[in-house]
Amino acid sequence: MALGRASAIHGWLTRSRSKGQGFCGAGLSASQLERRTTVTTKLTIPEVQSWKGQRTFTMLTAYDAPMARLVDEAGIDVILVGDSLGMVMLGYAGTAPVTMDEMLHHARAVGRTARRALLVGDLPFMSYQADTAEAIRNAGRHIKEAGMDCVKLEGTARQAPIARAIVDAGIAVIGHIGLTPQTAASLGGMTVVGGKDLAAARRLLDDALAMEQAGCWAVLLEAVPAPLAALITRRLSVPTIGIGAGPDVDGQVLVTHEMLGLFPGFGLPFGRRYADAGALMRQGIAQFAEDVRSGAFPGPENSFPLDEQILRALGDTTDRPGHGAG
Ligand code: KIV
Repeated sequence: MALGRASAIHGWLTRSRSKGQGFCGAGLSASQLERRTTVTTKLTIPEVQSWKGQRTFTMLTAYDAPMARLVDEAGIDVILVGDSLGMVMLGYAGTAPVTMDEMLHHARAVGRTARRALLVGDLPFMSYQADTAEAIRNAGRHIKEAGMDCVKLEGTARQAPIARAIVDAGIAVIGHIGLTPQTAASLGGMTVVGGKDLAAARRLLDDALAMEQAGCWAVLLEAVPAPLAALITRRLSVPTIGIGAGPDVDGQVLVTHEMLGLFPGFGLPFGRRYADAGALMRQGIAQFAEDVRSGAFPGPENSFPLDEQILRALGDTTDRPGHGAG
């Protein structure tokens, strides 16, 4: 498999950034050292690419430090700071309003936190389409300012030259094809892409090949008929990553907040609900409100005492009942 120049450069950079290796292991037993190295060795693009045809890799979104920590500690291979944060975190109706500065604000939190996972920063709408130099600069900001390992951009074969320019600047790129939410309006809404007829299927295959030829280290397929995703996966030498693209791809990605019941969803049945964390959180929040109203919170274990003599010296002679009681 041909590894792009950018991938090789980033492989070296990320390997040399590995945490938990080298001198900081002094004083640990061999097994502790092995565990620490195993747990925290940073994944690289060539490593993930080498899994093609061998094992399926995992990718989830994270937009802040707590989620990045959970996802990373759970052993997910790739973390995407997706522009889906526009809906999930910022309350926008879609991804189009998300700005580069908003992306970086979230990407920095993830970059500071994750240890093992490969990190992908999404290029938001209009951060790369209008001007190639601007595209390179914005991709560079994800690497320099947020500690991302690579960027992702949406498009078709028409955006492949932009991907090429970013790759040539030494930045690894994932090409995102199929349903591209930034431009979903021109696709006719959130819909499956490539399944309408032979011409549509051929166009999608051409998009995938163009992204690969542009030097993308992986191609993400969103809302693509499963047999077509399988065919594209066989035709490409770089990994494919699927969301709503069936089982025969090299990696699977989901939006974590949706998967965990923290966000209602994007309209298409992409994923599976693995937990109802939203219900759990609502229950905890409602219990707090009830405890405050009934006076059950805070309890003695949450309160700090003051010497009786000090109280008396302040002229307070009455026993102070709790605010919430009664
Ligand atoms: O922004 C995002 O979360 C994405 C996924 C849907 C793949 O691009």
